[in-house]
Amino acid sequence: MINKPKVKPPYPYFSSGPCAKPPGWSLKNLENAVVSRSHRSKVGLERIQELINKSRDILQIPDDYHIGIVPASDTGAVEMAMWSMLGQRGVEVYSWENFGHDWSIDVGDQLPLENKIVQKTDYGVLPDFSSSNSDNDIIFTWNGTTAGVRIKNTEWISDDRKGLVICDATSAVFSMHMDWHKLDVVTYSWQKVLGSEAAHGMLILSPRAVERLESYTPPWPIPKIFRLANNQKFAKAIFSGTTINTPSMLSIEDALNSLNWASSIGGIDELVNISENNLKIVSDWVATSDTFEFLAKDPETLSCTSICLIPKDPWFKDLDSEKKSDFMKKVCNELESNEAGYDLNSYKTAPSGIRIWGGSTVTNENVKLVLPWIDWAYDLVKSNYT
Ligand SMILES: Cc1ncc(COP(=O)(O)O)c(C=O)c1O
Repeated sequence: MINKPKVKPPYPYFSSGPCAKPPGWSLKNLENAVVSRSHRSKVGLERIQELINKSRDILQIPDDYHIGIVPASDTGAVEMAMWSMLGQRGVEVYSWENFGHDWSIDVGDQLPLENKIVQKTDYGVLPDFSSSNSDNDIIFTWNGTTAGVRIKNTEWISDDRKGLVICDATSAVFSMHMDWHKLDVVTYSWQKVLGSEAAHGMLILSPRAVERLESYTPPWPIPKIFRLANNQKFAKAIFSGTTINTPSMLSIEDALNSLNWASSIGGIDELVNISENNLKIVSDWVATSDTFEFLAKDPETLSCTSICLIPKDPWFKDLDSEKKSDFMKKVCNELESNEAGYDLNSYKTAPSGIRIWGGSTVTNENVKLVLPWIDWAYDLVKSNYT
C-alpha cells in the first residue's frame, strides 16, 4: 500500500473550467466593479474598452484585428462566427474530442452547407491536416480540452489562403503562443486560462474575416444575438465595447483582474512558462509511473493546459467501461474528500482517467503536490475495489 502523502496542494483546484482563480485572488478584487450603472455609460464603456485593450496587449494581437465581447461564452463566439460567415465556399472541419465534435455537428448536420469535409479522429489522436485546401474555410480547435491533445503547428495553413481559418482557442490562449497571422477568427472565454467568471465570449477577427462579413450574407436567418453585420456593414461598435446585449460588469471586472495579474507576473511569456512547466512536472511523473500514461499518443501533441491521463495498469484495462468510469469516480471522490484535489475526473465523453488543468493560474507547486495524492488514491481504491 502507498502511504498517504503528508502535504496537500495549498490551492487544490484543477478544474478545466471554470479554472482556478489567479494566485491570491479574493472577492475584494471586484470592489471597483462598475455595478448599478449602465454598461453603455461612459464609465461602463471605458471599463469594457480597458478589457479589450489589455487583452490585445497581453496576447499580442495585431493592431488591425478586431476584438469583441459577445454573448454565450466561447460557444457563442464560435457559433456566431460559423453561422455568420460560412456558406460562401467549401468548409473543412477538424475535430478530435468533445468540443471540436460539437463544431462538426454545426458544419455537418445543422448548417445547410453543400461542400463540406468533416475530419474526425478519436480521443488521443490528431487528424491529418496535410490535405487541407486553402480555398476552403477551415474550422479547428487549437487545444482539445477533453483529450489533452493540441495542434503541433500551423504550417499546414497557407499564408495565401482564400478561405477563412476559424479557431476555437479557449483552452490555449494565455498558455500557448498563437500564430495570429494564420488565424482569421479566434475565440475564447474568460473562465479558462484566465480563471475568471464564465459569462461572455471573446471574438477576434482578422481584416479578412471582416471583409467576408461585408461581402457575403448567408442564405439562412441570423438571430440578433449572432448578428455581426447589418446589411453587409460590419457591426464595428461591438468591437469597441458596445456589446450586443447586456454584459455582467462583475464578470468584466473579474476578467480585468486576471489580466492585471497576468501583466504583473510578466505577461504572455511567463504565462506560457508556468503552464509548460506544469506539463513538464506531469511528464516527469508519467515517465516513472507504472499506473498512468498520457491519453495523447504523440508526445508532440501533449497539451500543457488540459493534461489528460489514462491508467495503463493491466488490471484497470480489463474492467468494462462502466466499471472504469465508476472506479475513476471513486478515485476522484477520495481526492476531494481529502481536500487534496478537486475536479480531476476526465470529461464525461472522454476515456476514463484523470485530467489535471495545468493552465497558467495553477502554480507548479500545486501540480507537483497533487501527483502523489493521485497515486495514493488510485492504490487505495484499487485495494478495496470489487
Ligand atoms: C475547446 C472548447 N471549446 C468550447 C468550450 C465551451 O466553452 P464555454 O462553456 O465557454 O462556451 C470548451 C469548454 O470546456 C472547450 O474546452
